[in-house]
Amino acid sequence: MGILDSAQDVFGKGVSAAKGAVSGVAVEQQPFMKGFVRLCGDGWDQGWHERNGGNLTYRMTDAEVAACRPFFNEVPSEWVSMGVQADNLRGAFFTTTGSGRYMRNVPLDPAHNVGIVEINDAGDAWRIVWGLKDGGKPTSEFPTHFMNHSVRMKATDGACRVIYHAHPGNVIALTFVMPLDARTITRALWKAMTECIVVFPKGVGVVPWMVPGGADIAAATSELMKTYDAAIWAQHGLFCSGPDFDTTFGLMHTIEKAAAIYAEARLLNGGSDDFQNTITDDGLRAIARDFKLDINESFLD
Ligand code: 13P
Ligand code: ZN
Repeated sequence: MGILDSAQDVFGKGVSAAKGAVSGVAVEQQPFMKGFVRLCGDGWDQGWHERNGGNLTYRMTDAEVAACRPFFNEVPSEWVSMGVQADNLRGAFFTTTGSGRYMRNVPLDPAHNVGIVEINDAGDAWRIVWGLKDGGKPTSEFPTHFMNHSVRMKATDGACRVIYHAHPGNVIALTFVMPLDARTITRALWKAMTECIVVFPKGVGVVPWMVPGGADIAAATSELMKTYDAAIWAQHGLFCSGPDFDTTFGLMHTIEKAAAIYAEARLLNGGSDDFQNTITDDGLRAIARDFKLDINESFLD
């Protein structure tokens, strides 16, 4: 099955084997946790996670929380304020990679490198209820993940559950040589590979270089995520969102592959973006028409 076969359900209805909860089964054996761990290993295999680079969060279902609860720590950690707040995430539970922990190590030892955190009733603090052994804490990008979850949950009627941050090399490289605006970069990526507009019809947002790991970059990113389901961080990496692990990983993979093709085509073209052949704007419109895509029209000439 090609990407186009599933074009109509790329957003909100992607099918993943890694869903659901099984009572009486350890946290590591829960289907959602297997999907979470698999994505971490796959991202490492792609070369997107040098050292501790990148992070992943998943908003758990009530059934998954119930199945995991018997395995929660007897005493949760103290509440830790996030510096951001979201009403629609009061009392939510997230699975999260640990700050300073390596994606490469997640499949070897999930309970050490991954944790489950509970959000307080005010929606502005977390506490660890499982995993992140030996003094671990959630990713330093948790404020951005959290605000992105809030925005994408609202934008997708609750379908969005996964936020994934990686350091894919070609996307980062493009931010050194291209104008840092969503329209320019989205058009380049849409035209780099025919199926891109199907996978991200709203385009990709772009955040200028900012200090990572705090409330300011969380606010800037989540503002863009009201429109886009992916946002590039200049000279840093990419944030992707989606309803499940397959769709979210696929979005990251597609954007990075398009960036690689675009970069290679420019290199083959002596650095110029004046290509001999390209996909026209009318060509993009024709894909949108045939695949009934709700595209970002303002990005077409
Ligand atoms: P963490 O190790 O805190 O997840 O940070 C990695 C990263 O990519 C920061 O942007
Ligand atoms: Zn990063």
